[in-house]
Amino acid sequence: MREMFITIEGIDGCGKSTQALILKEKIAIHCGVGVVLTGEPGGTTVGSIVREVLLNKDMDNVTEFLLFAADRNEHIKSLIRPSINNGIIVISDRFLDSSVAYQGFGRGVSFDFINYVHSFITQGLKPDLTFIVDVEPEVGLRRLKKTDRIENGGLEFLRRVREGYIELSKRDRRFVVIKGEMDLDIVSDEIWENFLIRRKEWIESQKD
Ligand code: TMP
Repeated sequence: MREMFITIEGIDGCGKSTQALILKEKIAIHCGVGVVLTGEPGGTTVGSIVREVLLNKDMDNVTEFLLFAADRNEHIKSLIRPSINNGIIVISDRFLDSSVAYQGFGRGVSFDFINYVHSFITQGLKPDLTFIVDVEPEVGLRRLKKTDRIENGGLEFLRRVREGYIELSKRDRRFVVIKGEMDLDIVSDEIWENFLIRRKEWIESQKD
């Protein structure tokens, strides 16, 4: 049976990577099903090389998007699709929505172009559930110890990215927005409660 594909999104410093790890551990303990935690950019061998370039070298905005898309294509084909098709839940720390939020809303790359490339590489695959861990950009920036090239974009850039995520969350029921400024345990409890609700619905939908 095909399994669920879950993504976790948010601006830099929102705490999503810690939350993804906690969610993975809870699923492994409570759901009796295999689960893998991965992420973008860099979820594959090819992707880890692309990640180095993306986070360290200055480049044109379209080149930047295409490198994220190349990383994503490799990730889908070599890891995400084979795993969910083999009955393993996949949690990805960032996916499609990161490019729409960062390169589209943040950098102004054409949404039509982004959507076209995405439709070509995903072949219809989209997350069954996406958590957006939402924090004020000021909070996100304050939490970052060391910043990479993209995180250096500054407050205005992160504001556009955050607004992008909020806009996206209104477009599809797969999104659940979680307030990320509360204590870590409160945030993880909220993610877990929402996961259980969506998991039940998903299992029901597979019976149809
Ligand atoms: P990370 O810190 O979550 O590993 O992500 C690295 C940076 O890459 C982060 O600043 C967000 C950025 N990013 C994009 O700009 N577009 C994308 O499509 C992805 C996946 C990440």
